[in-house]
Amino acid sequence: MTLTNKNIILGVSGSIAAYKAPNIVRRLQDLGAQVRVILTQGGAQFITELSLQVVSKNKVHNNLWNKEAELSMGHIELAKWADAILIAPASAHTIANLVSGKAGNLLGSVILASDCPILIAPAMNQQMYTADSMQANLKILLERQITLIEPDSGKQACGDIGKGCLGKPSAIAEQVGLLFQHTKLSGKKVLITLGATIEAIDPVRYLSNHSSGKMGSALANACIEAGAQVTLVHGNISVTLNQKAQLISAMSAEEMYQAVMDNITEQDIFIACAAVSDYSAQAIKKDKIKKSEKNLILELTPTKDILKSVCQLTPKPLCIGFAAETQNLLENAKNKLKNKGCDAIILNDVSRNDLGFKSDENEVLFLDHKNTIKIEKNSKQKLGRKIVEILSEKFL
Ligand SMILES: Cc1cc2nc3c(=O)[nH]c(=O)nc-3n(C[C@H](O)[C@H](O)[C@H](O)COP(=O)(O)O)c2cc1C
Repeated sequence: MTLTNKNIILGVSGSIAAYKAPNIVRRLQDLGAQVRVILTQGGAQFITELSLQVVSKNKVHNNLWNKEAELSMGHIELAKWADAILIAPASAHTIANLVSGKAGNLLGSVILASDCPILIAPAMNQQMYTADSMQANLKILLERQITLIEPDSGKQACGDIGKGCLGKPSAIAEQVGLLFQHTKLSGKKVLITLGATIEAIDPVRYLSNHSSGKMGSALANACIEAGAQVTLVHGNISVTLNQKAQLISAMSAEEMYQAVMDNITEQDIFIACAAVSDYSAQAIKKDKIKKSEKNLILELTPTKDILKSVCQLTPKPLCIGFAAETQNLLENAKNKLKNKGCDAIILNDVSRNDLGFKSDENEVLFLDHKNTIKIEKNSKQKLGRKIVEILSEKFL
């Protein structure tokens, strides 16, 4: 069960059980979620803004009429930020507002402006809970696909015994987690290298290649979407990377090798998508090489093979390599699969101008030791999702 990479809004409304809200925040965080709290006026009668701010490590949102926040349409921003909205405890009043789509407070406005899943955990006196109007309201919400986290039965704050006690915070957090348990990558750790390495020749010049990092970035997004915990070791890139990933910059082949080796233990999957230079300068000149009429001979030495080194680890993560080829594509890719000892190779033809390096599109072959699957030309984002789908099906 995990909420890795998930943004959860916790709506806290005016039930006596609101004092349990910090505990719910903690349990959501334990599952890996980022939590922001919206506190209604009623909720603020039972739990302080400060407690919720400290525990959630985020400012608490409690006012629709906050001029500063609304400069950038804060309620819409919050609605877009959320992957799920949990109202716990959900008071009878807030539930009724939800049914009629009222947007008179911040929580109501955010809910209306959001298209993410909504969960409610009602908490109230047993008579209030069983009242016809309450049950009719819950029926309407269930028909709208809102998830109801049923209250427990027991002794209540008022002394009554019956159904209406807020469920256990851990059970409530797990119900939120259940919403996202559909991918095999949930909670898996994935390390991806991407971009081009840069091998210095002298203080101003270097050897590099055309890799933009777009394919690696698309793969990272797809893994994050699928709930993985992603580490990106990147060389020179021309894309903005997903901030939900841990980002490590490693410009030369040697730096990239070190960064990968320092972070590879604990990883479930390694995807070598970076275009790593096969050679680096034997010695980097201390001063700028001066122009002359004579030929210049640069001595290059082979760099360390990152993919092969990871494949030789015991235990080793699932290893996926990329082969960027311009000739004998399939033969070279099959050799790479065998020689490196990896589980699959993704082959792309970098001789074509419409695909591969720098392009927003790609077309690849996914080769493992049994089959070859062609993934038709598509945007790198869609291709990333397809690759993640295939590797989940085949290996996880
Ligand atoms: C001491 C006290 C305890 C209350 N406990 C509850 C409760 O457990 N559940 C509930 O639905 N309403 C409860 N209420 C009523 C709500 O706080 C009230 O309906 C309020 O308007 C809810 O506002 P909100 O839904 O905007 O937070 C309680 C009121 C008081 C004074």
